This record gives sequence, C-alpha cells and structure tokens, in this order.
Amino acid sequence: MAKLDTFLTRKLGIEHPVVCGGMHYVGYAKLAASVSNAGGLGFITALTQPSADELKKEIRLCKTLTDKPFGVNFTLLPALVPPNYQAYADVIISEGVKIVETAGNKPSKWIQYFKKNDIFVIHKCVNIRHAKRAQKDGADLISIDGFECAGHPGTETIGNFLLLALAAKKLNIPFIASGGVGSGKQLAAALVLGAEGVNCGTLFMSSTEANIHPNIKQALIDYDETNTTHIFESLNFHERVFKNKTALKVREIEKKYPGDFSKIRHLVSGAAYKKSFQQTGNINDSCWSCGPVIGLIDEIRNCKEIINSLVTEAISVIEKTSTKVIKSNL
Ligand SMILES: Cc1cc2nc3c(=O)[nH]c(=O)nc-3n(C[C@H](O)[C@H](O)[C@H](O)COP(=O)(O)O)c2cc1C
Repeated sequence: MAKLDTFLTRKLGIEHPVVCGGMHYVGYAKLAASVSNAGGLGFITALTQPSADELKKEIRLCKTLTDKPFGVNFTLLPALVPPNYQAYADVIISEGVKIVETAGNKPSKWIQYFKKNDIFVIHKCVNIRHAKRAQKDGADLISIDGFECAGHPGTETIGNFLLLALAAKKLNIPFIASGGVGSGKQLAAALVLGAEGVNCGTLFMSSTEANIHPNIKQALIDYDETNTTHIFESLNFHERVFKNKTALKVREIEKKYPGDFSKIRHLVSGAAYKKSFQQTGNINDSCWSCGPVIGLIDEIRNCKEIINSLVTEAISVIEKTSTKVIKSNL
C-alpha cells in the first residue's frame, strides 16, 4: 500500500500523518494507544485525570497498551481553581513522554519548559499571531485549529481554508490542519495547502475505542453539521458544543446577562459533562464539545478503520486529481 510520507511521520516515527488531539473526558490511555497502534498519533488528556498521580498511572497504562509513540495534551484554561500545572508537567517529564500537545492561554512558559526537557511540542492554536508566538517560544509544530473545530475555536471566526494558507505563508515551522476533518479528501487538501498532516477530535470521539456512552456516539451519527453552536461568546471564550437544550439555555442567559459567569455556571459544569459521557448518555443534560464534522460521520468504526480510510482516500484523491488537472503537452 502507498504511504503518505511527511515531516510528521518521519520526525515522530509514525506510519500515517493523522493525530487525535486531546479531548477532555475522552482522551484516556485506551483511545490514545488505539490511535497510535493504528499508525496515527494518540494523546492522553492530562487534565482529564484528577491529579498528577492519576496522570502518571494513565501514562503507565498507555505504555502497556502500545509500544508506538503517543503524547500527552496539556491544556491551559482559565479556571476558578487552577490545577497544579507544575505537578502535571513534571509527571509528563519524569514518565519519559516524548511528545506534548500544548493548548490554551499563556502557553509560553510551558512550551519553553517542555522544550528544555527535550520534548517535541505541538502547539495547538487558532490564529497566526499565537502560532508565531509559539514558534518563537520553540514549539516544533503548530496544529492550526480552524473555526470549524470542536472545543475552543477562538474569537476570530477564521476557517481553515484561509488559516492554512496563512500558516504556509507566515510560519517558518511545520504545521498540521485541525478542525472539521472527517474525510480523506480533506487530508489530501490539507497536504496540498502545506500541512504535514491532520488533527481530528470529534471523528475519534465516534470511534469504537472512545470510552464514552454509546448514546453520545449515536448522536454524532444522527445529527449533522448544523447541530453545533457556540457558548461563552459573551465571555470572549467561545466553545463549540453540541447544540442541545442546555447549550441553547446558556446562550439565552448570556444574551440577558453578558459576561456574567455566575448565571451559567450551574449549566456548564465539567461534572455534568463527565456524567453525560460516562454514566447517563443523556445528550441534552450538559454542554459537551463537538464539531460540525459530525455531518461527515455516519458510522462507528475502530481507529484502524478510520485512519486507513482517511489515508486510502487521500492517496486516491491525490492521484486522481493530479491526472485530472495537469494536462501534459506531450
Ligand atoms: C469532546 C472534546 C473534548 C475536547 N477537549 C479538549 C481539551 O481538553 N484540550 C484541547 O486542547 N482540545 C480539546 N478538544 C479539541 C480537539 O483536541 C481538537 O483540536 C478538535 O476536536 C479538532 O476539531 P474536530 O473535532 O473538528 O476534529 C476537544 C474536542 C472534543 C470533541
């Protein structure tokens, strides 16, 4: 079988240029190892673990499930009670993790800290300004998260078709395309736009190996690209979530009380999100991250099937397109 050979695959020693980024309450060792075993690059989500010590156990579990490269996502978000980031970072380092995906607010200190400890840093960000800052801080690769992405797409509403062209023009370090990717055609397009691969979240959330309630996965199949919305707009902290009763209620309250977190706190708790994912499977009871790429998801497949189909389709599209659009004079 033909292979896609990019900076990402060569540098990290992985088979396919496909990453599964960190996902709160989804990014456990089992999913990370399954993505890596399928030839992609899986990530454990550090803050999903309640303490640095639990993260250590999750990393050790992942090592028993795969001998392939995997990484840890390190997300910096504003919190009423911030987690002990130093303790999480030190576990990542002491456990010998070689790849970290940083994301979120004020990452400079942490990018520099991981680099000092010889870790390959992928910084995920939503605009060129932040990408350039991470480049200066020493990040090895940028994951460009377009406005289509699940989670936090930033406030500038710029989609990947433009952001990737800007990244190719303005960055001196390699980048991958993140947000909205659910087909091999998009992987091919990302490569043509200069990316070294793709990062997917929602697509892997739908995988057999994602440890979330089957009802949540079924919703990813049943609903389409019109079924996500943004919350926290009035706090300048957009989050793209599944459009359900709770998210619509949050939007309504934000309109009435812009910027007042105390009015929505009871509807957006991480505990409710975790409960929907891991206990009840109720798709309406909480606000949970999800991207419009659900329009492309129509079955539950394992990570190997997902990655193989992305790569096979990308190769076929690249071959067909080049013969279709390039006419020889001979
Ligand atoms: C349920 C869910 C939880 C997520 N949690 C995080 C997180 O904790 N940290 C982070 O950096 N990104 C998080 N993301 C974003 C993904 O890593 C990825 O950047 C995004 O999903 C890409 O867009 P896509 O879903 O369209 O593929 C999350 C995404 C989902 C779907």
